[in-house]
Amino acid sequence: MATYLVTGAAGFIGRSIAAALLARGERVRGIDSFIAGKHANLVGLEAMDFIEGDLTDPATCARACEGVEIVFHEAALASVPRSVADPAATNLHCVTATLNLLVAARAAGVRRVVYAGSSSAYGDTPTLPKHEDMLPNPISPYAVAKLAGEHYMRAFTRVYGLETVVLRYFNVFGPYQDPTSHYSGVLAIFCRKMLAGEQPTIYGDGEQSRDFTYIDNVVHANLLAAAAPAEKVSGQMVNAATGSRITLNETFRILRELTGYTGEPAYAPARAGDIRDSLADIRLAGELLGYRPIVDFREGLRRTVEWYRQGE
Ligand code: UD1
Repeated sequence: MATYLVTGAAGFIGRSIAAALLARGERVRGIDSFIAGKHANLVGLEAMDFIEGDLTDPATCARACEGVEIVFHEAALASVPRSVADPAATNLHCVTATLNLLVAARAAGVRRVVYAGSSSAYGDTPTLPKHEDMLPNPISPYAVAKLAGEHYMRAFTRVYGLETVVLRYFNVFGPYQDPTSHYSGVLAIFCRKMLAGEQPTIYGDGEQSRDFTYIDNVVHANLLAAAAPAEKVSGQMVNAATGSRITLNETFRILRELTGYTGEPAYAPARAGDIRDSLADIRLAGELLGYRPIVDFREGLRRTVEWYRQGE
């Protein structure tokens, strides 16, 4: 019987959490529909009890939650532009799926759900850094959908007593992130292109900044969120980030050193729904979870480039 369920286990973040749990000798079940996840991401996770299924189906959610104590809910259509192109699909796979999962978790007696929230919930407010008591201001359908999931978490804690913890991720990157889709995270795209000698495109002037967070930091925050005492963390939402930011132009320059790419980037108009600057206040994560970033941006980027260089 699995102790942990990881949804989106064939996705970049889900597979990384599952791998960390397995490395600790935990019993893990994973579920993925392969809409965004990849079979290749399951290599190395053979000890995981894997279900191919879609959380939009309540019966599948019930099967996935059976006997589980703690859920890491990572499954989502994680992309702002994808949600702009098809907001209904994002709603279905981020909101309906999350509600189905919560209903099933409660019915199965799951103790805690740790939810992958998104920094996009803060929107384009000029205040930096973003701290948790700021009013949310989602500007893309994706941000709305991820924020709805947060509210469902809190409601299930208040109304049904299910323990929930929301981690608001800030631009996560690292090994296993899919670099091939138009909807991929920028660092995955840039690593692949620059290693292949292809010109990357910067949308906007490149002076937009992000709190790019290496995957190990996010896995670490998840493990802490699963283990922290309920009276401290249940019903809470905390940022999972590094607390520092860098512009795309500067990131491009570092990547040029790391990849050996010698060209310039192409510049194209800014993307719809894009936000200008993003930076997390990570003090609350420190207070509630004892979280501190364990890998800094440059080291994370170095490891990521090496991973893509090895051919994924
Ligand atoms: C947003 C959310 C993040 C979420 C992610 C899911 C914010 C602050 N963050 O990230 O929480 O998990 O969506 O996808 O809203 N870019 C280029 N060239 C490219 C690709 C992207 O210049 O080839 C630019 C984008 O226009 C953007 C930046 O790089 O300004 C980062 O883009 P991306 O990696 O897609 O993430 P966000 O949209 O910041």
